[in-house]
Amino acid sequence: MRAIPISFPNDFLWGVSTSSHQFEGGNEFNQWKDWERAGRIRCGGGSGVACDWWRNAERDLDLCRDLGLNAIRISLEWSRIEPAFARWNEDALRRYREIIVQAKQRGMRVFVTLHHFTHPRWFEARGGFLDAEAPRLFYHYARQAVRSLGDLVTDWVTFNEPNVYAAFGYLFGEFPPGRVNEMNAALGAYAAMMQAHAAAYDAIHEERPDAKVGMAVHYVVFEPERDDVLDRQLASAYDTLFNRAPLHYLLGEPLPLPFALMAPSVPQAAGKIDFIGLNVYNRLHVRFPLGEKAGPGGIWVPPHLPQGDRGAVAPYGEAYPAVVAAAISTYAALRCPMYVMENGVPDREDRIRPWVLVNSLKELRRMWQLGHDVRGYFHWSLVDNFEWSEGWGLRFGLYELDLESGERRARPSAALYRQIIADGGIRRETLEQWGDLQSRGESAAGD
Ligand code: FCB
Repeated sequence: MRAIPISFPNDFLWGVSTSSHQFEGGNEFNQWKDWERAGRIRCGGGSGVACDWWRNAERDLDLCRDLGLNAIRISLEWSRIEPAFARWNEDALRRYREIIVQAKQRGMRVFVTLHHFTHPRWFEARGGFLDAEAPRLFYHYARQAVRSLGDLVTDWVTFNEPNVYAAFGYLFGEFPPGRVNEMNAALGAYAAMMQAHAAAYDAIHEERPDAKVGMAVHYVVFEPERDDVLDRQLASAYDTLFNRAPLHYLLGEPLPLPFALMAPSVPQAAGKIDFIGLNVYNRLHVRFPLGEKAGPGGIWVPPHLPQGDRGAVAPYGEAYPAVVAAAISTYAALRCPMYVMENGVPDREDRIRPWVLVNSLKELRRMWQLGHDVRGYFHWSLVDNFEWSEGWGLRFGLYELDLESGERRARPSAALYRQIIADGGIRRETLEQWGDLQSRGESAAGD
């Protein structure tokens, strides 16, 4: 028998993560389409036909089956389901049923996200999550989704990364509504999404008491650049607000001071979590004073550290597999099942993706062995897709997508992931080959 030094439990979930706007193509009714039309995508263009899933998700579901996946995460496009206020589109719901059935027929358990950064134009026009009615509107959407699809789906993710949505939409201006340095609005949107999460949690359980409802948070290791009180305090403020605010809300605790004075409290979110999804990619370095050497917010990435491809104007982040363990040990406080719900790297040439895959899985397995209830790993992502404000510049696929012909070409990481899944773990020779970057004599840093 082949030696598999890093092995995973038999019922472990092996998946990929995707989202509606990044994969479906032809989304016309959400706020991101307007953002694209306003020319806000760094490499130009827009989501276009994306990976063409609305017409033909089945082609990529075949690839998932070939990889041996037993799980997939998709998201529903609220703007397709409710293109105008309180008008439900049965055709869209039918297409989602079809996609979910097709995935299940190929052996996958389907996790469904309700909000992955996009929502209907009419909802944005009311103020998005800053509209006082937002949690109630989200409740109705969640109820409609679970009424239509709840016989096929047990695992529901209410929100993808409310922390990224709030920071990029209201502090950095990189996502719609494109506001900059508006801390009150950012904290308000963040808290409103937690309220909407609580409302959707209730809606789903009212319809399907045995459903499991979670959310996905993005977790970043913030590293003070120097052993200096200001660098440390800045890193710790980012850690509290970005990484830990959802944890405090879900535990029913106030945020630590002084943030409790700035952020609205959400008592109704306490305890409303059946599992947590951890989206883990990067470490970012933090340096005070702001603006000197570092990028916005004092954040930067030292060039000699491992990185995939650079974004159009800034590095994407230091690729950092140890973030997996940091996120798991922090969110273990919820005492619920955990999934690594996104992990990957932008890497057109597949230079360091195998290293990220192998070492992130090693970290996950180490935490599982320590007794943490981590039940699955979802790679971001199957195929190159529309990467938000970076557009088509950053390539996250196990498969390369030819934008002209629509052809998919496997990158070496696809074969590696297939082998790991088939073995239920990582072979010794794979560990030797990909365990550390330096021993490969390769430059870790991107261009
Ligand atoms: C995550 C997003 C996902 C994708 C990856 C690269 O923050 O949830 O949609 O863009 O980053």
